[in-house]
Amino acid sequence: MNPIPKWPAFAALASAALLISGCQKHEEPAAASAPAAAAPAAKNFTIGMSQCNLGEPWRVEMNAELQAAAAKHPEFKVIYKDAQNDTLKQRSQVEEFVSAKVDLLIISPKEAQPLTEPVARAMDAGIPVIVLDRRLLGDKFTCFIGADNRKIGHAAGDWIVKKLNGQGNIVELKGLMTSTPGQDRDGGFRDAIAGSNLKVIFEADMKWLEPNAREEMESALSRFSKIDCVYAHNDPGAHGAYLAAKAAGREKEMIFVGIDGLPQEGVAYVTQGILDATFQYPTGAAEAIDTALKILHGESVPKEIVLGSRVFDKETVAQGGRALN
Ligand code: FRU
Repeated sequence: MNPIPKWPAFAALASAALLISGCQKHEEPAAASAPAAAAPAAKNFTIGMSQCNLGEPWRVEMNAELQAAAAKHPEFKVIYKDAQNDTLKQRSQVEEFVSAKVDLLIISPKEAQPLTEPVARAMDAGIPVIVLDRRLLGDKFTCFIGADNRKIGHAAGDWIVKKLNGQGNIVELKGLMTSTPGQDRDGGFRDAIAGSNLKVIFEADMKWLEPNAREEMESALSRFSKIDCVYAHNDPGAHGAYLAAKAAGREKEMIFVGIDGLPQEGVAYVTQGILDATFQYPTGAAEAIDTALKILHGESVPKEIVLGSRVFDKETVAQGGRALN
């Protein structure tokens, strides 16, 4: 008998045995020898990004960082909508993304309450949602990404208590108080100064906007002859207050503290001696794209990603600031 015809059968048996033992030991990835042509084509994803406005440098930066991070993933197509600081417009833009059946939604909402319901409806439609920077009410979203505003407000309060030896008159220029960062930057700050002799003698909601801050500061200056510190919930607010004080010839009488710490804005103001301190508020854009990637590939993600912050003041600005504990 010719033994040769038996070889294929033997070889098949042997390789089957190898395969089985390979499976049992989990030694070789099963697909290692699969031809490249059999790999499924990479799926493309459309991401809708709802930005509450692009009138503020911090938001322009967020979109630029999103664009840069998304460019590393050619399978992502990001569609940007700018709500121009109009809550109703932002609501309808979210609805448009839902009707367009985007694969994922990223939203940086203007206000908590009115944007909660449209986001919940996106989730009902099976669209995962990443909420960036300002919070919504409840927990109907996939992942929230942002820094701890209460902690930043508290750190700003501690910094001011130390700088003024616990004594003095404060003007507090608040961010939009229907948005959560405004509430938390106020709450954390108030906790930190409680028990000191720092007094908030004037407070106003400047709604995150520099021209409003300037106007509010003009009234504060006309009403109070002694102001030791302006604590503004963002750097545009602190800068607006500085300009008002400078126009009145009183800018040397007080210190100015803001939040955001963009290199080209708040950090530059500290270097120039316009602001005394700024606290960084990272945009979370890179983390949002990383998280979108995971969600769209079926991986689980945390409900909340908390970003760190740094303080930049005269002592630390040259070394890139100091991380908050
Ligand atoms: C921009 C901005 C930032 C601030 C953030 C808070 O719209 O006002 O200056 O840190 O929003 O949500």
